[in-house]
Amino acid sequence: MRTIVILISGRGSNMQAIIQAAQNEKWPVKIAAVISNRADASGLHHATAQGIPAIVVPHKDYTTREAFDAALQSRIDEFAPDLVVLAGFMRVLTARFVAQYAGRMLNIHPSLLPSFIGLATHRQALAAGVKIHGATVHFVTADLDHGPIVAQATVPVLPDDTEETLAARVLEQEHLIYPQAVRSFIEGRLSLIDGIACIAIDKVELPVQ
Ligand code: GRF
Repeated sequence: MRTIVILISGRGSNMQAIIQAAQNEKWPVKIAAVISNRADASGLHHATAQGIPAIVVPHKDYTTREAFDAALQSRIDEFAPDLVVLAGFMRVLTARFVAQYAGRMLNIHPSLLPSFIGLATHRQALAAGVKIHGATVHFVTADLDHGPIVAQATVPVLPDDTEETLAARVLEQEHLIYPQAVRSFIEGRLSLIDGIACIAIDKVELPVQ
């Protein structure tokens, strides 16, 4: 049985997709806690409804990024998680914090990295005129939105798309690839080896020579 802690800042739809998949597919996992940096994150209600401890560590209570990250780390480490899952967690993390969870912290970003890092990714995609957009699951490193890529999904950008319609199309894909990536980690098939995200596939029978 593996333990995960999920960090959110808002609605938590990716968190819900992960919780749902874990239940439906009976993953060998305990979702030990959901932690938000904002007390008004609506995803906290869903966690509570599922019987998962919902914890708030308000970033506004800390004067420095370092102090907030230290407080966050101590709450996370109470649960000794095998994996930390960032699911719409909208804080830039310090290198020191990230180093604590090297190879065991995942994020989802709503673009095809390395394109469109940071915020307003759908607006960036529309402004750039790309015809294909998407989402990326990656290991978290100190370099914002640049960690080793685990999985990506693509969607078309349609001529009449707005930020909202494009975001909704991407989000559907996020809800598919993020649970799959987390499941791969839980089952020991996903790991970070020499800075590269490696996913083991089923053993294949090689043809006899
Ligand atoms: C998602 O699009 C995620 O990729 C991005 O923020 C959004 C969070 O949505 N980092 P939710 O809170 O998971 O519903």
